[in-house]
Amino acid sequence: MDEDVKEILITEDEIKARIKELGILISEDYKEKFPLLICILRGAFLFLADLVKETKIPLSIDFMAISTYAGKTESSGEVKILKDLDTSIEGRHVLIIEDIVDTGLTMDSVTRLLKTRKPKSLKICTLLDKVERRRIKVNIDYFGFKIPNKFVVGYGLDYEEKYRNLPYIGVLKEEIYKEGSINI
Ligand code: IMP
Ligand code: MG
Repeated sequence: MDEDVKEILITEDEIKARIKELGILISEDYKEKFPLLICILRGAFLFLADLVKETKIPLSIDFMAISTYAGKTESSGEVKILKDLDTSIEGRHVLIIEDIVDTGLTMDSVTRLLKTRKPKSLKICTLLDKVERRRIKVNIDYFGFKIPNKFVVGYGLDYEEKYRNLPYIGVLKEEIYKEGSINI
């Protein structure tokens, strides 16, 4: 275990098993729909990669990078697009692949934006759901795990761009983030 990690919340094997189940579900639901999976960078990159390997249907993928405004401006719920999609989503069955839904502001904003582009359907698949922290209602169609209100890293999720390469989801030690410097 990484020395900055207090406890392992979800093991590599548990992630693997759950993603297998999600792959089966998504393959059934999107059979003959040629869905477009949109990976929200950077946190969801491993989740997308492992998830698509567990699907058995034709699909396409695209990537979107966004920055959520931390601190004061967070309450506006507006996101800044750092990298937009290369694909037109009009008439497509779109499935957003996200690492974690926390307050819900990011997903609310992203879905509002994507809806203006007229997809045939728009759903959300998140690896982690931090339910207690929700500030705005978000319809989550697929989730990997519901987790308690703890700051987690690993399997794509970072703290200051570190820890994305850990193969498990772990709770970060409090002493790693100085008081006030983290938006949780
Ligand atoms: P929301 O807009 O509050 O739902 O925040 C979603 C984003 O915040 C995620 O895409 C993550 O980038 C980040 N985030 C929220 N909670 C955590 C966490 O526990 N660890 C790492 N990143 C997190
Ligand atoms: Mg993110």
